[in-house]
Amino acid sequence: MTAMIEARSLVRTFGSTRAVDDLDLQVESGEIFGLLGPNGAGKTTTIRILATLLAPSGGTARVCGFDVMTHPQEIRRRIGYVMQKISPTRNLLTGRQCIEMEASLYHVPRREVRARAEELLGLVGLLPHADRLFSQYSGGMQKRLDLACGLLHRPQLLILDEPSLGLDVQSRHKVWDYIHDLRRQGVTILLATNYLDEADRLCDRLTIIDRGRVVVTGTPSDLKRAVGADVIQVTTAEPAPLAAAIAGQPWLQRHAVSEAGELHAHVTDAAAALPALMGIAAASSIPLETVTYTRPTLDDVFLLHTGRELREEEVTA
Ligand SMILES: Nc1ncnc2c1ncn2[C@@H]1O[C@H](COP(=O)(O)OP(=O)(O)O)[C@@H](O)[C@H]1O
Ligand SMILES: [Mg+2]
Repeated sequence: MTAMIEARSLVRTFGSTRAVDDLDLQVESGEIFGLLGPNGAGKTTTIRILATLLAPSGGTARVCGFDVMTHPQEIRRRIGYVMQKISPTRNLLTGRQCIEMEASLYHVPRREVRARAEELLGLVGLLPHADRLFSQYSGGMQKRLDLACGLLHRPQLLILDEPSLGLDVQSRHKVWDYIHDLRRQGVTILLATNYLDEADRLCDRLTIIDRGRVVVTGTPSDLKRAVGADVIQVTTAEPAPLAAAIAGQPWLQRHAVSEAGELHAHVTDAAAALPALMGIAAASSIPLETVTYTRPTLDDVFLLHTGRELREEEVTA
């Protein structure tokens, strides 16, 4: 099986900013692959290089078997790209007209345009709204129309930048359903997201990126399993002394104090570890405010590898 995307030591600088910094990426044919990272991590820059819209400053990338630098036209013919930001001209058009306009950009033969527009509007459930203005669509409907536009020329690879950004829960699930359907039809999907749940629910494999670099790559379940079985989260006024007090306990795999001052303890079995941890806190006279435990999330994966939380970055970025 050949790789759909193969990037080696990819670099892109903007002045002194290294937006993409020695990034390796391999996406196999037929998978939904995620780029997960906080705002500013370099996701959009990476995607724009792969979509041949931006030249790398260093390294190589092949998409659908072609080099991004030497064969951009071959790549463009084979991929669909749905951008994070959409063109303001859409607001002047109906849903159907948006698709027809895109069709002319993609050189879809004129006689096929009407039928193709109908088919795609049907696919994303927008046929009943085809002749309403795009500007009057809800956020979820707009995203679904974007998705339809990305599929116009039947791409082998669909690249989606933040496909559910700003959508309500129901619309997100609908967009996810369409993405799953596409994968079933054999379309390879690369998507960028800073939503943990989106990466977790949607992706077969993902790469977590931070500051332009690969943090870790794997299936969501493998990445979470590598964190540990359970995570105990403790809020206390004295996280550092508690961290020191539990260090070296046999039930403890690893632990870290987050920027928010929460102690995260990774343990094989929370049911056994909880009383032990609380006993140590009591013996050391460290008062605990809240103690909760959860199965690991991709946020714990991010914390483990970077020492920071993805969620916090999202809020402050
Ligand atoms: N055209 C540009 N000019 C200057 N800096 C840019 C440009 N595009 C992106 N950057 C910078 O590169 C970094 C990565 O940005 P981006 O790829 O958009 O990240 P993400 O999509 O993960 O949020 C950020 O620091 C951003 O400010
Ligand atoms: Mg982006």
